[in-house]
Amino acid sequence: MAYRVKDAIADYFRDKYGKRPNVSVANPDLTFHIHISHDDCSLSLDSSGESLHKRGYRQEAMEAPLNEVLAAGMILMSGWDGKCDFVDPMCGSGTIPIEAALIAKNMAPGLFRSHFAFEKWKDFDRDLFEEIYNDDSQEREFEFTIKGYDKDPKAILTAKRNAKAAGLLDTIQFEQRDFKDFEPVKERTVIITNPPYGERLVEDNLLGLYEMIGERLKHALIGGEAWIISYHYECFDKIGLKPSAKIPLFNGALPCELRKYEIFDGRYNEFRGGDRRLKKDDLPTRRSGTLRHKARLAEREEARKAEKPFHKSTEERKPFRKSEGGKPFRKSEGDKPFRKSEGGKPFRKSEGKKPFRKSENKPFRNNKK
Ligand SMILES: C[S@@+](CC[C@H](N)C(=O)[O-])C[C@H]1O[C@@H](n2cnc3c(N)ncnc32)[C@H](O)[C@@H]1O
Repeated sequence: MAYRVKDAIADYFRDKYGKRPNVSVANPDLTFHIHISHDDCSLSLDSSGESLHKRGYRQEAMEAPLNEVLAAGMILMSGWDGKCDFVDPMCGSGTIPIEAALIAKNMAPGLFRSHFAFEKWKDFDRDLFEEIYNDDSQEREFEFTIKGYDKDPKAILTAKRNAKAAGLLDTIQFEQRDFKDFEPVKERTVIITNPPYGERLVEDNLLGLYEMIGERLKHALIGGEAWIISYHYECFDKIGLKPSAKIPLFNGALPCELRKYEIFDGRYNEFRGGDRRLKKDDLPTRRSGTLRHKARLAEREEARKAEKPFHKSTEERKPFRKSEGGKPFRKSEGDKPFRKSEGGKPFRKSEGKKPFRKSENKPFRNNKK
């Protein structure tokens, strides 16, 4: 199909201009997408180029990095808008804290990309683009703190490199720390985190890890809230706290849930009295998931029934299977390791802490042709 579309486009230009355009499969200037559904066919010109979830700040990734867009979506769904402290206690390569900082400062997430496909379009207006690109008038000051912890020192190094590339090293405090040593917060804090699921990151005692997470949240996050994305219900069960929201979403191909935990001092019934009583709509359940999410969950349950059951009590059961029931979940875009640097070479000419466009050196955007 792709070749027929390519030939049709090339023939059109040959008929119109008497010359067939060159087609480079490896490094095209223009990319088209064709989508056919029943009797509908749409042909579109790609204006972005590399997928927009690749912001361009990621210099390196640890194993199992979260897709940047998923991280941003989780933060936006949580309602965190930069008006209190924020922590990711298992931050890996720093995606969640970096996306949180971009949201808090209202910085455009595409700022770090080295190019967009529309820059090769014939009617591309470079002056207009640079005016928009260099306009930071909508950015705002952030007065609270964003922290990223991880027990792995390599993760912290990677997270710092990525934050530096985004010009956010001053905004985020990264520190090597085990979540079990998480100290009680003094100010209202929102935690959003993506612990290991035992799928790609194998943990010796996965259920024990989730038990510890629940214990720390209960004792160290009083008055705050935590949002945790995970895959196995058994892991959620081990947290031992009642979620006030469950949002179905995919991490790559894995049908996961993002659960919200509100941490309070005292009895649940007292906390949930009056205005805080949960209404039905406050608690999105698996039923509100997409058909694809439901289908994947059903697949997983089928596979699980056919296999040995996941024993709730067997904490020593380790590690988790790489894929459920031998039926591998396709490793999707979100699961792929990222290249060492986006675009093959580091996009930043300056090693400063500011985003590229503000660097002292000549920004590449001003290299007018
Ligand atoms: C799924 S990864 C997080 C990926 C991250 N969201 C990213 O985008 O790169 C889970 C992280 O939890 C960390 N971790 C596991 N157990 C931990 C613990 N007890 N305390 C702190 N970090 C822990 C691992 O080192 C790993 O980096």
